[in-house]
Amino acid sequence: MNQPATATHLAQAAAAPSYVTHRKLAQWVAEIARLTKPDRISWCDGSQQEYDRLCNEMVASGTLTRLNLEKRPGCFLARSDPDDVARMEERTFVCPRNREDAGPNNNWVAPDEMRATLAKLFDGCMRGRTLYVIPYSMGPLGSHIAHIGVELTDSPYVVANMKLMTRIGRRVLDVLGTSGYFVPCVHSVGMPLAPGQKDLPWPSNKEHKYIVHFPETREIWSFGSGYGGNALLGKKCLALRIASIMAKEQGWLAEHMLILGIQPPQGEKRYIAAAFPSACGKTNLAMLVPPKALNGWKVTTIGEDIAWIKPGKDGRLYAINPEAGAFGVAPGTSEQTNANCLAAVRTNTIFTNVALTPDGDVWWEGLTKEPPKELIDWQGKPWTPGCGRKAAHPNARFTMHCSQIPSVDPDWENPNGVPISAFLFGGRRATTVPLVTEALDWEHGVYMAATMASETTAAIVGQVGVVRRDPFAMLPFCGYHFGDYFRHWLEIGRSLKQPPRIFGVNWFRLDENGKFLWPGYGENMRVLKWVVERCEGNGGAVDTPLGRMPRYEDMEWRGLDLGRARFAELTKIDPAQWRKEVQEHAELFDKLKARMPKELLALRDRLEQAL
Ligand code: OXD
Ligand code: MN
Repeated sequence: MNQPATATHLAQAAAAPSYVTHRKLAQWVAEIARLTKPDRISWCDGSQQEYDRLCNEMVASGTLTRLNLEKRPGCFLARSDPDDVARMEERTFVCPRNREDAGPNNNWVAPDEMRATLAKLFDGCMRGRTLYVIPYSMGPLGSHIAHIGVELTDSPYVVANMKLMTRIGRRVLDVLGTSGYFVPCVHSVGMPLAPGQKDLPWPSNKEHKYIVHFPETREIWSFGSGYGGNALLGKKCLALRIASIMAKEQGWLAEHMLILGIQPPQGEKRYIAAAFPSACGKTNLAMLVPPKALNGWKVTTIGEDIAWIKPGKDGRLYAINPEAGAFGVAPGTSEQTNANCLAAVRTNTIFTNVALTPDGDVWWEGLTKEPPKELIDWQGKPWTPGCGRKAAHPNARFTMHCSQIPSVDPDWENPNGVPISAFLFGGRRATTVPLVTEALDWEHGVYMAATMASETTAAIVGQVGVVRRDPFAMLPFCGYHFGDYFRHWLEIGRSLKQPPRIFGVNWFRLDENGKFLWPGYGENMRVLKWVVERCEGNGGAVDTPLGRMPRYEDMEWRGLDLGRARFAELTKIDPAQWRKEVQEHAELFDKLKARMPKELLALRDRLEQAL
């Protein structure tokens, strides 16, 4: 990607602020500027003034709308291009030299070929725009579990979101020093401007979209999209795909997990990390409000999407939330489903693709029972109830800083992390999978996580959705071969003196009328309580072919009218369904067979026999 250097571009690069003492960083920025040819380079200092200035500029350019100053102080609405509304798994690539290393779980193109494609696309792609340099830390600054990335982007929307979701700016360069390691990330919306050409409120490239990871050099290159995980490269690209590779090499875990704290009325506070595929209520679980009947119990939030987890000297696992903010799904969030989240997004929040009320507030499906009488929908069109369209896009988002979450844990920025007592793994399963099952040991827990699945389509009432295997909820995020990833988990477990207990959960089982059997949301506290009691060594359980499960009398039912018959439905193991299930486990393992750990193959055979 060596482009002839022009005098202007070299001059721009030389204009790096005097506080930039990292020579390699300055050189790399200059090199990318020579390639992408922006009109300006702006080094982000991470200050509030910078954020405010960028937001004002985006209001002036039409990218943002300022919301009602009384109802949503410091809040903005962005509307994306209707073709740029979500992560694009089919346009996401992991490109190690050896195809087999990417595994069947990733799209792969030979790195040389991919570099040639990107070189063409990025050549001059920032003409007419500003190249922003965003030094950012995933994890508390200076934490031994944290890592630093630098994102170069031509999107001010990305800068503003990265400010809320990570730690950015000069303080990151201070930690980086003159020679510290950073992950280089290049992002462009892929729409250069000719002289005098008017910009769009949401520029993107309609033709070409690429989200590319080079494992050997730990580079991230993203082209053509300005949305979410495609563009905010600290989140899925660095904190999961690249970090999962680093974690394997260095002996830690980078996981698609929320982290929550549970303080029982008496006794020690416990921390749980829980993996669920997208759209299974991770944000709600992370901010759970316990039901009144269990009001001695308190839940606190460390993170709602990603966990970085390292073995400590004491043989336990310690976790941090590498993010500083949330980029959460708005639709479905309400006072009933997630009161903490609603409180968190009242101020200083960027909303994307939600609906706008006539008085400058926001609305989305599920926020209130009755929709407002009129709205402007996520595409900027007038909307009335019954018009046949959704007011908010189903993947509409809010971006907010974790410090605004009322339930945030006092240790959420502890650089040493919090000790993990249990892992939960869950998917959306209308049938087959019981409410909660404890693994017999670490190896068995890895088997449960490796074989988990989730329904991709919201089922039409009474119908079962399409089940997709999503091991560890990492299918779109594991940056290498799943067989190697399972082996890494097995090895980590063997190295621990006090491995966390592992549980499988399923809040989504349906009755014969297609209604949820389990009330969910705050009532999930009852399952968490049993999990904590198991960790304490005093919760009752019974052995089943799937693992240990609570009996009715082992769980707390105060304040909830859920009888034995319904509990039996929730925890039923149907032999016919499970014979099909273990067959699907075999099919998954067969796809990964080149690198499958034999321990898991043996566990599958044992499960089949036990059934
Ligand atoms: C997310 C996802 O946005 O998992 O967190 O898709
Ligand atoms: Mn996620």
